[in-house]
Amino acid sequence: MTDPRPARRLHMITWGCQMNVYDSGRMADVLAPLGYVPTAVPDDADMVILNTCHIRDRAAEKVFSELGRLRLLKQARAEAGQGMVLAVAGCVAQAEGAEILARAPYVDIVLGPQTYHKLPEMVARASRAAGAVIETDFPVEDKFDHLPDAAAPQGLTAFLTIQEGCDKFCSFCVVPYTRGAEASRPAAAVLAEARRLVAQGSREITLLGQNVNAWHGAGPDGQPARFGQLVRWLAEVPGLDRIRYTTSHPRDMDDELIAAHGEVAALMPFLHLPVQSGSDRMLTAMNRRHTAADYLRIVEKLRLARPDIALSSDFIVGHPGETEADFQATLDLIREVRFASAFSFKYSPRPGTPAAGAAGQVAEDVKDRRLQELQALLREQQTEFNAACAGRTMDVLVTGPGRRPGQIGGRSPWLQPVHMAGPQSLIGRIVTVQIAAGHTNSLTATLIEELAGA
Ligand code: SAH
Ligand code: SF4
Ligand code: F3S
Repeated sequence: MTDPRPARRLHMITWGCQMNVYDSGRMADVLAPLGYVPTAVPDDADMVILNTCHIRDRAAEKVFSELGRLRLLKQARAEAGQGMVLAVAGCVAQAEGAEILARAPYVDIVLGPQTYHKLPEMVARASRAAGAVIETDFPVEDKFDHLPDAAAPQGLTAFLTIQEGCDKFCSFCVVPYTRGAEASRPAAAVLAEARRLVAQGSREITLLGQNVNAWHGAGPDGQPARFGQLVRWLAEVPGLDRIRYTTSHPRDMDDELIAAHGEVAALMPFLHLPVQSGSDRMLTAMNRRHTAADYLRIVEKLRLARPDIALSSDFIVGHPGETEADFQATLDLIREVRFASAFSFKYSPRPGTPAAGAAGQVAEDVKDRRLQELQALLREQQTEFNAACAGRTMDVLVTGPGRRPGQIGGRSPWLQPVHMAGPQSLIGRIVTVQIAAGHTNSLTATLIEELAGA
């Protein structure tokens, strides 16, 4: 039977963290029953959704330059007798709300991250009404209870949001304001979604949350559980070979979770654990509520539990009050831990956050220099980590064709991209490889064998 509804085309642009990537998928899922099918370009789109990020100034500004371009497209379509519903979703929508309409009155819908389940209703209202529709409340109902179960397959590697929001209120960060209070999804819902993803072909799942390891909730047995326990339950899902999670906070890195790293084979030996700074003065000013020594202790315990674990982190340079000595303390911490990879940023003042109005703002040229120095050190460590893989054997999940003809590519347990010669028929398999060489951003390898039964 052919579908009687004419296809409507949906174009999405997604910025920001992996949670936004996941949310964009869910928005597409919620619009699919209305006949919306994804399109890669905005030109022929009946609806465009910008899923935005507010974390740094530059991230937020991109939205308005994109809106400027879309305005012309919307005008051209209107002249041709075609409509275009223009929606701004995500953290800029949440933070700026009606301000967006003041700057870009041609926007039809502004919707915060907790309202995506209401999207069909908003689209209907926008096409009926003359004015724009704004939804930026934190509704009492859980959006996950109202999003459809029938989700489009994500492929071999998938994301699964288990926790959203943040109560930590770091001095510099907008997330507690844009994503609201910390909330966990029930274990049963998480496990059901994991089983569904695996049934649709996913072998690796990355659990997502702004503070993913703060997850807590009732287990299937009704007893209260924490994140380490959830990981163990997930590891029992047949066919789920690899589990990762991001982003975690050092304060929620409890012994139960550290033990899981030692005991759960499916939990990959790679952890993104942001520290932001190595100076206790700065950590206090940032309201991180842990010290550099606390962080080093956690790393030590993790390495005891899982000797081959590799770490990545986030760093901010130039937070208000940061002196040269504070910055040096960050370099010292990096030298001590040795990171396999990292993200680093210049402090960007965000309206409404405590640090934005704090004394001791650091000059831009100082931030620039510190960032360069920090990134040079981190790059050196990443290159060393990859180079040290040469000669080792490891398991690679083959995710697709490689860079060159005759090549396939995949992911190492440490999230490194791996390229090797091999047949496309191995896509979807976990294979054992020997690493030929490590480069700054990837590894090259030779195939040894396909894992038995994999
Ligand atoms: N929940 C995570 C990270 C969320 S945001 C955590 O607690 O670590 C991702 C990263 O962006 C942060 O770790 C931080 O390094 C960076 N970031 C957040 N706000 C920033 C700001 N105002 N300026 C520069 N970097 C920022
Ligand atoms: Fe932002 Fe801090 Fe919460 Fe992370 S823990 S999301 S940096 S407030
Ligand atoms: Fe950006 Fe919001 Fe994620 S501010 S980093 S999209 S939680």
